[in-house]
Order: sequence, then C-alpha cells, then structure tokens
Amino acid sequence: MSILITGGAGYIGSHTLVELSQFNYDFIVYDNLSNSSQESLKRVEKIIGKSITFINGDIRDSEKLKEVFSNYTIDSVIHFAGLKAVGQSVEQPLEYYDNNVVGTLRLLEVMKEFACKKIVFSSSATVYSEVDAKNYTPLTESNPVGGTTNPYGTSKYMIERILEDLYISDNSFKIAILRYFNPVGAHESGTIGEDPNGIPNNLMPFISQVAVGKREYLSVFGSDYDTHDGTGVRDYIHVVDLSIAHVKAIEYLGTDALASAIGETKVSLPKINPLIVNIGTGVGYSVLDVVKAFEKASGKEVLYRLVDRRAGDIAKCYANPSYAKEVLGWEATKTLEQMCEDSWRWQSNNPNGYNCDK
Ligand code: NAD
Ligand code: UD1
Repeated sequence: MSILITGGAGYIGSHTLVELSQFNYDFIVYDNLSNSSQESLKRVEKIIGKSITFINGDIRDSEKLKEVFSNYTIDSVIHFAGLKAVGQSVEQPLEYYDNNVVGTLRLLEVMKEFACKKIVFSSSATVYSEVDAKNYTPLTESNPVGGTTNPYGTSKYMIERILEDLYISDNSFKIAILRYFNPVGAHESGTIGEDPNGIPNNLMPFISQVAVGKREYLSVFGSDYDTHDGTGVRDYIHVVDLSIAHVKAIEYLGTDALASAIGETKVSLPKINPLIVNIGTGVGYSVLDVVKAFEKASGKEVLYRLVDRRAGDIAKCYANPSYAKEVLGWEATKTLEQMCEDSWRWQSNNPNGYNCDK
C-alpha cells in the first residue's frame, strides 16, 4: 500500500516526502518535472536513506495514471501537482485551468475507477474573498471564499468545489483540503528547498537572493498599509511544519499505507468529511519584520527600497489555525527565526538552487 504523491518533486512535495518517511509511510512520486528537477528527489533519498519510486508523468495523462494505479496498490493521494505563479496565471489562464482543474479531474476520475478514495489537496488562503481578508483577519475556515482575483486562485477555488461535489455524489470519498498560508523555509539539512525559476515573485526567496548577492535590493511593495509599520502582513509557515500537517491529514483520513509499512492494522474514520482546514501559524509578520529577521539569521545586510503597492495585494492576511489543532492535533512549532535560518542555509549552500548551471 502506497500513497501517490503528485507533484512530489516540487518544493512542498519534496519536504513532505521526508516527513512521510519519518512516519514510515510508503509512497510513490508522480511528477512531470515542469517546475522541478529529479535532483530534489536524489537529495531526499540521501536524507531518508532509501530510494524513491519516481514516475515521470502528467496528471492530465489518464492512461499513464491508470498504468500507475494498475501497477501499484495506491491507498491514497496527496495532490500537490499544479502551476502556482499568480502573475503567470493572469497571462496564461487556459494553461492554468488545464493543468490545475482539468489535471485534477483526470486524477479524480482514475482514482474513482480504481476505488482509491482518499485525497489530501493543496489549496491556498487565496481562496478567501479579498474583501473579507481585509475585514476579518484572522481568517477562519468559515470566512467567505470565492471572489478570487486571478486564474490561479480561481483554479484552487474550483477544485475545492469539485471535491465537495464529488463527496456529495459518493460519500465513501475521504477528502482533506488544506488551505496553506505562506510557506517558506527549508529542511534543516540545507539540501532541499525552494528553487524558483527566474526572478522570484514571493518575498522569502527574493530576500534570500538579495542576501546571497544575486539581486541588488528588495522592492518593498507598499509602506502605507494599515499595519504596525505600513508594510504588508502575512502568516509565514515553515515548510517542515506544513509537511507534517500532510502527515496528520493522511492519518486523519485513515490510511492503510502506514499499516502495510509497519505491519499494523489501522482503521479510523474521519469525523468531518470533507475536511477543510487552514494551515498557518496564526501570527502575522510584516515585510520589514521578515527583512530584519533574515538579516539577523544570515548576518548579511538586505538592502531594500520602499516602492508602490503591488496590484492585488492586501494589507493583512493571517490564519486562525485553531481548527487544525482541534481536528488534526497539528500546530506550527517553528519560529520566524528558524524559517529565516533554514532559508538562508539552503540559499547559501545552493546559490543556484538544484541547477549548478543556472
Ligand atoms: P512546486 O511548483 O514546487 O511543485 C509543484 C510540482 O507539481 C512541481 O514539481 C511540478 O513539476 C509538478 N507539476 C505541475 N504540473 C503538473 C502536472 N500537470 N502533472 C504532474 N506534475 C505537475 O510548488 P509548491 O510550492 O511545492 O506547491 C505545491 C502545491 O501547493 C501547488 O498545488 C500549489 O499551488 C500549492 N500551494 C503552494 C503555495 C506556495 O506558496 N508554495 C501556497 C499555497 C498553495
Ligand atoms: C502570494 C500570492 C498568493 C499565493 C501566495 C503563496 C500574489 C498576489 N499572491 O501571496 O496567491 O497563495 O503568494 O505563497 O502573488 N513583497 C514585497 N516584495 C517582494 C515580494 C513580496 O514587498 O519582492 C511583499 C508583498 O507585497 C506581501 C508580502 O511581501 O506583502 C508577501 O508576498 P508574497 O510572498 O508574494 O506572498 P502573498 O502576496 O501573500
């Protein structure tokens, strides 16, 4: 019995493999390497001390997926695969809906055909309505969703709805939808981490690249927000904490993959299904808070300039994470200091990410 990890070669997927392995889960990675390289899996193999079964495939390729479900006994799926760049999604909406929405449909069809009915899905805090994020932080799971402002966010919202409708049609599906806030950081070994293509859009990889000398300065998008120092506030969550939330979600759904791995029988039924849960720390930090913490962790100066607000940004966005604690027994434990230290270790050890020729 194995867990199929779609997108397992990517940033969050690769870290989740390490945590799954620590908890004795068997897994298979399925990824088309469109935004990752197999080098991440080689490095995970070193950390966990065993080889990984990897299938180079696209989630939109039903035949290939069927082959995988025929060749392996798949108990459940953790579904990370998808495209995630907000700006790119505005320029290429059809590619985003095809990859994320159509890809998820193909995956769910094959799962249904093979009676594999447990899925953990990577959603995002971006599904919360923008207006509500402004007015009702911290965000709880009952805050209104939809009203998304870009195809990436809309694709996540659509997939959530598809999963909910799937459950209504067949309540033997067991579904956990995790709404991530802002994942940052890296494994403490400094051997795996986030490896963005080109100029990073997100704050932490940009700061890391300034600190390592790849970029001259950080543009701080907006200094006139209604926050403690005028810069945007977000809920940054360490990728290792986030990865552990996936292990908890798999446990919650009652997987047999652990049973087969450690020779025990484990039967449990999720109390709430589909489960929709925020994965954040509940603490908001501003852009300048992160800059200061990063300077301290790295011992490097991070030059910055205050510039205009970025279109589409909001002042504050952070989670109320209490539901995750209640239902999954999960809470974040890592501090902003650790997020910065681990990001810096990864960045300084791997200035060009996984690709030495970049
Ligand atoms: P990532 O790009 O590093 O990983 C995604 C992986 O999916 C990559 O390895 C890519 O090659 C693969 N992939 C993409 N399309 C595929 C397809 N059609 N078939 C097979 N594989 C495919 O991204 P990540 O940061 O690890 O994010 C993982 C998931 O979490 C994504 O669904 C993303 O939207 C979601 N998410 C990420 C963040 C974030 O800030 N990183 C926040 C919220 C939600
Ligand atoms: C972005 C995405 C969101 C996605 C999330 C995942 C947008 C509009 N939103 O959210 O859909 O789920 O990433 O991590 O892209 N900042 C700077 N300078 C920079 C980069 C960022 O000042 O060069 C600021 C931003 O204005 C924001 C904060 O840093 O206040 C965090 O930005 P970012 O890392 O891009 O995340 P989000 O905007 O929260």
